[in-house]
Amino acid sequence: MGSRVRKFTRAGGHARRVERSLSAPVPIEDEKRIAAEAAAEFVRDGDLVGLGTGSTVAYLLPALAARRLNIRCVATSPATAQTATDLGIEIVAFEKIERLDIAIDGADQITEDGWLVKGGGGAHTREKIVAGAAARFVVVASSNKLVGALEPPIPLELLRFGVEATLASLGMAELRDAPPSPDGGLIADFHGPIGEPAALAAWLSATPGVVEHGLFAPSANTEIVLARGGAVLDWPVGGQPQAAAP
Ligand code: 5RP
Repeated sequence: MGSRVRKFTRAGGHARRVERSLSAPVPIEDEKRIAAEAAAEFVRDGDLVGLGTGSTVAYLLPALAARRLNIRCVATSPATAQTATDLGIEIVAFEKIERLDIAIDGADQITEDGWLVKGGGGAHTREKIVAGAAARFVVVASSNKLVGALEPPIPLELLRFGVEATLASLGMAELRDAPPSPDGGLIADFHGPIGEPAALAAWLSATPGVVEHGLFAPSANTEIVLARGGAVLDWPVGGQPQAAAP
């Protein structure tokens, strides 16, 4: 029988003990929920909140709703907007808001030094705008998202106009069998080598027809909240992973 670890996390505003055997792997879905519930506690009454998209954020929304805070939220996708509204979270348009207090979102890949790949759900353009507008950008993830080095594919949103020419310029890129973004962009993936992420990000941004790519550069406003087993690791970009305070 393996040794046991005890960690405390929060769910619905109530402290809850998570107790697991080290020999029993924690399902990824549980890690997503644990990370999302921990991040839900970061939101304060009165905050303007950016809500990401994806299966990890799907655990954030009920945890946030259960806190019954007086908050207004911007959603990065129609799916998130619908789920949040159904849970009683107020969603507002992002046309006349300059800054957000906090944004919480998932990621497909995370490096320890803070590079992210996002866009598995094709929402990376809106997600990047929301992350950039937030004073605090919290990335919630299960342990399988932490990688030693970024790997392809890198999600893209492309302008429909001239899309074949854009794909030809990009070379190793193809349209994804996915609906267009809510802003009309076509979702694609870049399958070429990544090399130096900053150089690839600059080249993708400079390619005409690329609306946005899913490489998120390390940023001082970014913080990673990652669940590994029953434990939550929480570190600012530029820092080292460490156990979150119980
Ligand atoms: C959507 C995203 C998601 O945050 C990313 O794909 C992670 O999703 P999940 O939490 O389902 O693993 O970038 O565009």
